[in-house]
Amino acid sequence: MTIVSMKVELYRQVHLIFNPSIRDFVLNMLSYAPQGFYERPASTEHHLLDERGEGGNLLHTIRVVDLVLVIIDISTIKGTEKDVLIASAIIHDLCRYGVEDEFNYSHESHPFLVRRVAEDHSLTCDCYDLIMRIIENHMGRWGNPSFIPHISLDGVLHFADCIEDRLPGVIRC
Ligand SMILES: [Fe+2]
Repeated sequence: MTIVSMKVELYRQVHLIFNPSIRDFVLNMLSYAPQGFYERPASTEHHLLDERGEGGNLLHTIRVVDLVLVIIDISTIKGTEKDVLIASAIIHDLCRYGVEDEFNYSHESHPFLVRRVAEDHSLTCDCYDLIMRIIENHMGRWGNPSFIPHISLDGVLHFADCIEDRLPGVIRC
């Protein structure tokens, strides 16, 4: 996929957000995204091979949104919570290389820089604090502070079973 076609796909995903306040917030955040969000790799060694080159961060973002949609589909998550999750997924790596692409490598504090972009441009929305919390926890146990989610044992196997089944359709390109 080219960067242009990936941008088209990303904006299609944005319009899956039903709540206009959250959808407009995401659109505004994307308008302030550093170029690196769209053009730089997801990483040079940790992500899938096709995410390690130009546009890799954008490809990673699209795939994360797709996986979130699979999990939403097989769970009880709906309504505003669904919108919150889609929004969080779309902008979770917005500042991987800093608020102005000032870092050469994926910065360990990048989850917390998303809030800074919102504050710098006085952007907010419904469920803003929840969206920021989800983004700031997205590094899990590799984050600082670390975060370890509780997922039920039944949920783990069901999610794994369903996600594996849908991966060929989810992981495109
Ligand atoms: Fe990510």
